[in-house]
Amino acid sequence: NSSKMWSGRFREPLDATFESWQRSFPFDVRLLSHEIAASKAHAETIAAAGILTPDELKQMLDGLDRVIPLSLEESTKLTNLDALRDAHKLNRAGVDLVISASSSIVALNPQAEDIHHFVELQLTKVIGDLALKLHTGRSRNEQIATDMRLFVREAIDNTLTGLTAWRKALVELAEQAGEATMPSYTHLQRAEPVLVAHWLLAYVSMIERDASRLIDARKRMNLCPLGSGAVAGATLALDRSIAARALNFDAPTPNSMDATSDRDFALEFTQAIATLGIHISRFAEELTLYSTAEFGFLDLPERFSTGSSAMPQKKNPDLTELIRGKSGRLLGAATTLATLIKGLPLAYNKDLQEGQEPVFDAADTIAGILSVLPAFTSSLKFRYDTMKTAAHSGYLNAMAAATYLTDKGIPFRKAHEHIGNAVRLAMGEGTPKTQRELQQLTLEELRTICPQFGEDFFPAITLEATLDCHDVIGGTARPRVKTALSEAKSRL
Ligand code: ARG
Repeated sequence: NSSKMWSGRFREPLDATFESWQRSFPFDVRLLSHEIAASKAHAETIAAAGILTPDELKQMLDGLDRVIPLSLEESTKLTNLDALRDAHKLNRAGVDLVISASSSIVALNPQAEDIHHFVELQLTKVIGDLALKLHTGRSRNEQIATDMRLFVREAIDNTLTGLTAWRKALVELAEQAGEATMPSYTHLQRAEPVLVAHWLLAYVSMIERDASRLIDARKRMNLCPLGSGAVAGATLALDRSIAARALNFDAPTPNSMDATSDRDFALEFTQAIATLGIHISRFAEELTLYSTAEFGFLDLPERFSTGSSAMPQKKNPDLTELIRGKSGRLLGAATTLATLIKGLPLAYNKDLQEGQEPVFDAADTIAGILSVLPAFTSSLKFRYDTMKTAAHSGYLNAMAAATYLTDKGIPFRKAHEHIGNAVRLAMGEGTPKTQRELQQLTLEELRTICPQFGEDFFPAITLEATLDCHDVIGGTARPRVKTALSEAKSRL
């Protein structure tokens, strides 16, 4: 027990099973780089308060740097157990840690209770008893709050980078699509024709909102908890702005009770990521659907598809399906955090330790999704002919036809009814084979429904005219989409 950070008050050893069960080190070890950065910032703060001499500060900072035994470059070579063992031998500072190839960290220290304890133990190995001064004027409660903020801030930045890549892929795809058309759907029934670019830009709008939510959350969370102590504030007169500045926070947090128990920043992050996941999942669902033989709007890229072990003919949309599935996990993380926090009295409670893994999982899951989504999106090849045929049949120009009549001064309700009758007439009694489209009706037939139909009806309901009559901001008229596309491009 003497290796614990709090053993003085205890005489009985911990139950061994409880001891190992309550540890967070197996997962919070991934906070190592943040814990070191925060510890260095704290060391500078207490040095400024006269707790460390300039020389002690220097030793402390050097020692903290040596707690990370391997450079990232070195660590990427660790692909198997042997390499791992070698790396451990190489280990400059003799600390009990190596970093594996996937930059997940393999910790070899059986004593560490959590990442804070680990760094203190390792620092003691490296610089001796001077290490024991580091905890002056601080608490693990403010440390974990700080480490998690640093983690979330980095995860937000990584997500934003990935989102920009996806947004760029969508904008490029929209550009390639030019004036290609497709049906739009409401109730999953054909509604009106739209430009393929217009459909793709709908996702660009969603991503832009997602990005702004993350940017907004980042601003709100960028305050430094260090100096908040265990709950009531540090017991030394520390200049909290030193650590805030060193860690690139905008300022110290304003209330110690809030700062040590607040996890809004993690909740907001997971919620924003969950919303992003919902959008990505809708995209994945549409592509899954559009790649079926029934729609036939695209051929899945082989590079991103898989076969069936049983049915030789199959090419399955595993990528989009997995994305749809993984977005469920993102929602799960947000739900876990909200449920975890809602019943907690102020301030720190150990329950908060359970809030770490969902945040890590959300960050890893979105990083994984965004590692494949931009390249997948760029590789999509649409069957524009099939899309156009679908946009051309099934009376998708009926609303444009009704608009033709309202332009002749007929009230819309009446015009709607006339066109409804025209659709009825075109559908006929027979099989789909004998069905006609509105443009295939004769003027004589149309005039039996409404005498105001003229020759100019036919040019008014072509595919192009049907698109272009939606000439409003946000509409699918070709010039509007062109403008929307160049605006989306300039925002990249
Ligand atoms: N591992 C702990 C956590 O994640 C660190 C804070 C421990 N504080 C405490 N008072 N036990 O929450």
